[in-house]
Amino acid sequence: MGFYSNYVVPRFVTCACGSKPIVRQRQKVVPRARGKILEIGLGAGHNIPHYDHERVDRVIGIDPCETSWQLAQERVNAVPFDVEFLAGSAEDIPLDDDSVDSVLLTFALCTIPDPLAALSEAKRVMRPGGELVFCEHAQAPDESVQRWQARINPLWKRLAGGCNLNRDIVGLIRTAGFDINELEQMYLPNTPRIAGFNVWGTAIPRS
Ligand SMILES: C[S@@+](CC[C@H](N)C(=O)[O-])C[C@H]1O[C@@H](n2cnc3c(N)ncnc32)[C@H](O)[C@@H]1O
Repeated sequence: MGFYSNYVVPRFVTCACGSKPIVRQRQKVVPRARGKILEIGLGAGHNIPHYDHERVDRVIGIDPCETSWQLAQERVNAVPFDVEFLAGSAEDIPLDDDSVDSVLLTFALCTIPDPLAALSEAKRVMRPGGELVFCEHAQAPDESVQRWQARINPLWKRLAGGCNLNRDIVGLIRTAGFDINELEQMYLPNTPRIAGFNVWGTAIPRS
């Protein structure tokens, strides 16, 4: 990875991921994860303080960016449960089938190059009874916002480390073979609408 993607992007993303409206979103979803948890796209570990300690056995975070793991250290050291880091890609998760209770995905499906492959891997590693917990920014429902998202996306993607503004996140989750259990959505306050439409909830593998 070059200087920009290895040094600048993780710090820029860390800054954006710590905004108040996004922290509020984390508080809504992260405590839902339980047991042995796989967090896809761990980044700088912004979710770590929001796990419910009573429900967590351990967290395994996967991310190809090792700089992010360095940025996560303070948060990792502050919690009473183990957080293990796997340097790798969500499209090829080095875990056994049926080996985790929850998979957490926050603000990562926008960036993962092959989101369907990542979701299919999430399904594979999930135990029967397991749950996908997600919160992502997504393609907006309003056509005027969608048009701006499509216009800006090529430049945004280059500057923001591969992040896409306009993925149909719920459609991807369903296409990958999950049923949505709970779904909420809104434009985040104090956030540009092109990047502020959030979808969050839980999903289970379709039987
Ligand atoms: C916008 S950041 C979000 C980080 C974190 N999930 C959060 O909520 O703060 C997107 C993350 O996805 C990671 N990522 C990119 N490609 C990935 C892949 N193929 N597999 C797993 N993670 C990936 C990036 O390195 C980055 O840490």
